[in-house]
Amino acid sequence: MYIPFARKYRPKFFREVVGQEVPVRILKNAVRSGKVAHAYIFAGPRGVGKTTVARILAKSLNCLNPKEGEPCGECENCLEIDKGNFPDLIEMDAASNRGIDDVRAIREAVSYTPIKGKFKVYIIDEAHMLTKEAFNALLKTLEEPPPRTVFILCTTEYEKIIPTILSRCQRIIFSRVKEEDVKSYLKKICSEEGLECEEEALSTIARASEGCMRDAASLLDQASVFGEGKVTQRVMESFLGILSVDKVRDFMKLLLESRVDEAVKELRSLYEKGYNLSKFWETLEGEIRNAILVKSLEDARGVVEDPDGYKPFEEYPLEALLYLENLVNRGKVEARTRPAIDAYELALIKTLIVKEILPISKALASAPVEPRREESLEEKIRTNLSSLALKAIEKANRREENGKVVFEMDEDDYEAFKGEFEKLKRHVPEVVFELRKKKDQRKDTTSLF
Ligand SMILES: Nc1ncnc2c1ncn2[C@@H]1O[C@H](COP(=O)(O)OP(=O)(O)OP(=O)(O)O)[C@@H](O)[C@H]1O
Ligand SMILES: [Mg+2]
Ligand SMILES: [Zn+2]
Repeated sequence: MYIPFARKYRPKFFREVVGQEVPVRILKNAVRSGKVAHAYIFAGPRGVGKTTVARILAKSLNCLNPKEGEPCGECENCLEIDKGNFPDLIEMDAASNRGIDDVRAIREAVSYTPIKGKFKVYIIDEAHMLTKEAFNALLKTLEEPPPRTVFILCTTEYEKIIPTILSRCQRIIFSRVKEEDVKSYLKKICSEEGLECEEEALSTIARASEGCMRDAASLLDQASVFGEGKVTQRVMESFLGILSVDKVRDFMKLLLESRVDEAVKELRSLYEKGYNLSKFWETLEGEIRNAILVKSLEDARGVVEDPDGYKPFEEYPLEALLYLENLVNRGKVEARTRPAIDAYELALIKTLIVKEILPISKALASAPVEPRREESLEEKIRTNLSSLALKAIEKANRREENGKVVFEMDEDDYEAFKGEFEKLKRHVPEVVFELRKKKDQRKDTTSLF
């Protein structure tokens, strides 16, 4: 009988689980140290190992010879759990089995201790779908947790689980599996299956599955059947209707070089061959965004997968990439209200302008630095005087004469800040002071310079 890869290669031990280091570490430690919680919530996207890890946990809790938190995989209990007929492992699918049955099952949990194993383990899949009654029954049970019973609530929609339940469970977060991890998992399957595979094809599958291991495994499965035992990029492309990243990057270059004719033809041909255009567009947008990140960040590792792959875009100015991103994004939005091919074509045509951005930004890059603007007289005065002296000078009468600026002020005022004013005169030779004599002498005096 043919067993699909996704099932055939379901990990049986913690050590085989790909990419979920944190959940695995927490759970293994809990088992090893005997500090297992009464209830867990396994939250995360679909197909990343929640049910798988829940079963491994059930196994390691009931294994007769566990080692370092791992189940042995050979004892009676381990074997029964693997086969799916262990009486103390109860799996419920809240999505398909809503209602009275799960309520009853949960209620029973309170009354029965494990039949055969050390722990009774309930795995509730899609827990966010539980009915209200089931939730309430669960809540009651969690308030007074029965001994040697572990609940594992798996969910892809964490936010739909009510807070009263959340607060009674230990939360374990599962994440999307990184592309390179997905890829090495696929490689392993290929070698076990004796499948010939192209590196590029595996990358395409890994990318298409968006971190979902189940999808990755079943895509590989289908691709190998489709390609009669060979997993090639060509097969992947016609099968998935998506281009490899390399080709998307080539396309990006066409746009950055305003080679619009070629770009439009390429798009048309993808369309005619039945490729998934919106997927293509999405990849294009993602690639442009990554190129932008790599170009702008000092170190893009950890933010962008395989930053080195974007080296070829280093030579294009950031402005051009940003402009392109904007066009592609608008193309995507417009594709919602008109045929996608039209929206995309239009966006491609607009990239004609990219060519013009290149010289502009080159010119900007090589333009001489703007010369430092001359400080204005006001600025010079301001920088040379204290605020009090400044007040005095602002009070003075001011006029311009033969290219000089004359401040007419009372002698007293001048005297008060003499030091500063003299300094100002030294630094700013066009400033001149004209002093008015003290009031009692004013009548018989004229100005003095
Ligand atoms: N982390 C992983 N490492 C290795 N294989 C995995 C991993 N996650 C998922 N798989 C593969 O995907 C299949 C489905 O995984 P599983 O049922 O554990 O996913 P799930 O997170 O419970 O998904 P769902 O939310 O859809 O129930 C497994 O049989 C296995 O082949
Ligand atoms: Mg599941
Ligand atoms: Zn065992």
